Amino acid sequence: MTTATVSPNTAVRPQAAGAALFSERLAVAGRPLSAVTGAEIQAPLIQGGHARYANLDYGASTPALSVVSAYLNEILPFYASVHRGAGYASQISTSVYENARNIVRDFVGGRASDSVIFTRNTTDSLNLLAGCLPSANGRPAGDVLYLDIEHHANLLPWQGVPHRSVVAADTLSGTIEALRAELEQGGVSLLAVTGASNVTGEILPVRALAALAHEHGARIVVDAAQLAPHRRINIGADDVDYLAFSGHKLYAPFGAGVLVGRADWLDAGTPHLAGGGAVREARLDGVSWATGPARHEGGSPNVLGAATLARATQVIAALDQERWHAHESAIRSFLVEGLQKIDGVTVHQIFKDTDPDTDTIGVVNFSVEGYDAGLVAAYLSAEHGVGLRDGRFCAHPLLKRLGLPSGSLRASFGLGSRLEDAQRLLAGIEELRRTGLGWDYVVDSGRWVPANDTRIYPDWAPNTPGTAGAAPCVDD
Ligand SMILES: Cc1ncc(COP(=O)(O)O)c(C=O)c1O
Repeated sequence: MTTATVSPNTAVRPQAAGAALFSERLAVAGRPLSAVTGAEIQAPLIQGGHARYANLDYGASTPALSVVSAYLNEILPFYASVHRGAGYASQISTSVYENARNIVRDFVGGRASDSVIFTRNTTDSLNLLAGCLPSANGRPAGDVLYLDIEHHANLLPWQGVPHRSVVAADTLSGTIEALRAELEQGGVSLLAVTGASNVTGEILPVRALAALAHEHGARIVVDAAQLAPHRRINIGADDVDYLAFSGHKLYAPFGAGVLVGRADWLDAGTPHLAGGGAVREARLDGVSWATGPARHEGGSPNVLGAATLARATQVIAALDQERWHAHESAIRSFLVEGLQKIDGVTVHQIFKDTDPDTDTIGVVNFSVEGYDAGLVAAYLSAEHGVGLRDGRFCAHPLLKRLGLPSGSLRASFGLGSRLEDAQRLLAGIEELRRTGLGWDYVVDSGRWVPANDTRIYPDWAPNTPGTAGAAPCVDD
């Protein structure tokens, strides 16, 4: 075994020709754009010592913004059951929870008449909408149409209702034409589309797709789980009917999700969670359901999840858009260019006509010749303290079509990221190509892990060794 030295100073050094570009990028992305909780945590390394954890897994869950963590501490003493309590803390909690709806509505440019429903996450939001599709004469009023590039959250809920899918073309323009051709066949009630691919970070033109859907008498739902943390969204201006996203990908802890959109379908749809709070009146053998968000929010809601989600949206809404974009785009272009320079590394994208400057978010997908993606992820974690995702990213149809049936790697970043995180990843991959692995790795329960892992983890996180690099949606 060799000893790897991991330090920011050993990271990829800019070539002379690229030095000016590098320092330009360092000026915009040398430091996090916003403070996040846990930015300085130290990851134990397999060969001994520690390195600052380079979190390149924002696409899965973001760290909490420090402002949001402070807000959580402020409201936690008042945390109580909402809606039905007459007590002081309960009234405050109710106010915070209900006000969170207005904050989120403003954040996405929602119409005054839109419902804002808090859910468990994006997956839950889209399942909820699937239960609210309109019917005519007791039969579904149309099909749901979706692309093959979707995350399973925007694929599987529609498989339980009448649906059609379209295979995306190798260009975005071709894909829009393919959707148009399908819509022209008629009979589509809802176009379900992602705002940005969780696999490659490529953005889809939401406004144009909304217009296309409406031209053909359909509505549109945008899965904004990846888009919302990276771009301003205005569903009013873009004429988007429904929008779903998750707090845990938007710098808020506790994982609340939200569905915002036109109230008519939602008020007529099947209550998502039958139970307390969702009814006007319940009888022993019947019920009269509430309308509005209550209809779908049966049971005690995730008050702190909704509150922190709303607080995070306020911080994001206040960001200077240019600086925000410049920060993420500097890291992305540095990473993509760096990866492309390493022999044996391939960067993947869906569309040939994606403009990397304007049409991508902080997600980069790649693979390293000769190595399983899971092995590379385990190596980066164990030997470099870099966290990123491997696998099929809950987008099996797309990975298969991209010729990556056994998965690839995804680096994702955002407000708390800095250029050095990307440098650390590049240094790790360069070293892998140059000298190979510095430790032995074994497959344990289907996942690559370092052999003889003696790293020490907090005692409140038992059994951590062996799960490093574990990713869902690999085998399932
Ligand atoms: C594009 C996209 N949609 C939906 C989801 C599901 O989000 P959640 O796990 O919060 O339900 C994800 C999660 O990675 C995603 O990236």
